[in-house]
Amino acid sequence: FIPPVGNLSVVNEVIAPDGFPRSAVLVDGQFPAPLIKATKGDRVQMNVHDLLEDNTMERALTIHWHGIFQHKSNYADGVAFVTQCPVIPGESFEYDFSLGNQTGTFWYHSHFSEQYCDGLRGPLVIYDPDDPFKDMYDVDDESTVLTISDWNHNPTSQLPEFPLTVNSTLINGKGRYVNGPETNLTVITVEKGKRYRMRLVSISCDPNFIVWIDGHNMTVIEADGELHQPVTVGAIQIFAGQRYSFILDANQPIGNYWIWSQTGAGAPPVYPGPSAPINSAILRYIGANESEPTANMSTPTNLLNETQLHPLNNPAAPGEPHRGGADKNINLPIDIIRATAVPPTGNFTINNVTYESPSVPVLLQILNGVSAQKLLPPGSVYPLPPNKVIELSFPMTSNAAGAGSPHPIHLHGHSFSVVRSAGTGPNDYNYKDPVRRDVVSIGNSVNDNVTIRFETDNAGPWILHCHIDYHLAAGFAVVLAEDLPQVSGDLSPIPLDWEGLCPAYYEFNST
Ligand code: C2O
Repeated sequence: FIPPVGNLSVVNEVIAPDGFPRSAVLVDGQFPAPLIKATKGDRVQMNVHDLLEDNTMERALTIHWHGIFQHKSNYADGVAFVTQCPVIPGESFEYDFSLGNQTGTFWYHSHFSEQYCDGLRGPLVIYDPDDPFKDMYDVDDESTVLTISDWNHNPTSQLPEFPLTVNSTLINGKGRYVNGPETNLTVITVEKGKRYRMRLVSISCDPNFIVWIDGHNMTVIEADGELHQPVTVGAIQIFAGQRYSFILDANQPIGNYWIWSQTGAGAPPVYPGPSAPINSAILRYIGANESEPTANMSTPTNLLNETQLHPLNNPAAPGEPHRGGADKNINLPIDIIRATAVPPTGNFTINNVTYESPSVPVLLQILNGVSAQKLLPPGSVYPLPPNKVIELSFPMTSNAAGAGSPHPIHLHGHSFSVVRSAGTGPNDYNYKDPVRRDVVSIGNSVNDNVTIRFETDNAGPWILHCHIDYHLAAGFAVVLAEDLPQVSGDLSPIPLDWEGLCPAYYEFNST
């Protein structure tokens, strides 16, 4: 792991996490990118160096710190053409921001093009010396982080648009593909009688995964950096961008147990489909043989439903406790414009508009004095007033229900209360104690109408998008421009190295 102050070198190297060598985009040569271990209240100062030289992939880059609110530091949010221009090869950019009071499980990844699929993705954990769960659960160890990712053998630029398949699933950067070599799988070591807080991070580009551990329950206590009351389950479905902490009680006979990670409904198949021991890692008790478990693939039971989760503190959703009872209610129907029906290709729309990155980042437009109505891209920027409760609803159209769903929607700069979750009835709104998180699945049925609420307490342009990276690239995004009059006041001083990013990028891009 690495500390939150220092240097990150982004390089191209050939790696073979599942035994198949390919060139990738890597932080310090590693996949996943190294765990950044921070402590509550830290200031992050990461000087990112772009050393990329492989022209089969993007060579400019950004880094987004997923789930970090970036209060008064919107310029450090790392979203290409929303909060900055990409850093060009040979150059560096220092991300300098404070973590405030946030604690829990986060991650960081490129937010330029589909670059994170090529490797620029890794976990970020903010430890809390006064974590209430240490005592409540008598946790002996909280060092385990499990990252789950899809992996392809070709650079993203060379993947077919359809059908989308995935070559392998990696747990902590190790996995196997069908008919590939018997590479080493990740081993998580536990000691019988101890209790562990383990963190599960989906750094997926596309599939959702169902994760379970043979012989062990998981007691979920955190979702996306927000503490929740404990819920004990047998399996967790985790969507791209989501995180959970769970308590694992190492109370089983000493031995080896499979940790399974199978793609869930609607996800592209991990080619050519599940078969043990592909898509797995090993939970090994101290004292067990150093061999793989012999058990066949089991069936997940008692799957976590997010409606079971209730925040530990201040559980109520903001605003009046009824449907539409926020200060501002916005409907964001998702649709798709088909270019061809077979194979299905096309662009996504939100409120009938396909997002196309502007050439001047939205933040720079705001600082240049562009008025709210004229911000680019047209139809995709929603100005929001400060200190109001905003309710966003994502009614499912039949196209969206069919096209690559369930879609995981992520909002930057905030956590939100999910007042209606996917898979619930038309009147199942919860304002009393709904799950709070920053990525929510909006479901895959025309009856779904996932609704979220948050308060506009963070000035700046924040992107909201589907966290399936191919869908973001296909225009599945809007920008919420929060408290425009306050943006520049909140940001001063803007770091000097931010100012030069766009001129350098425009020049690089024109050569
Ligand atoms: Cu994990 Cu917009 O990002």
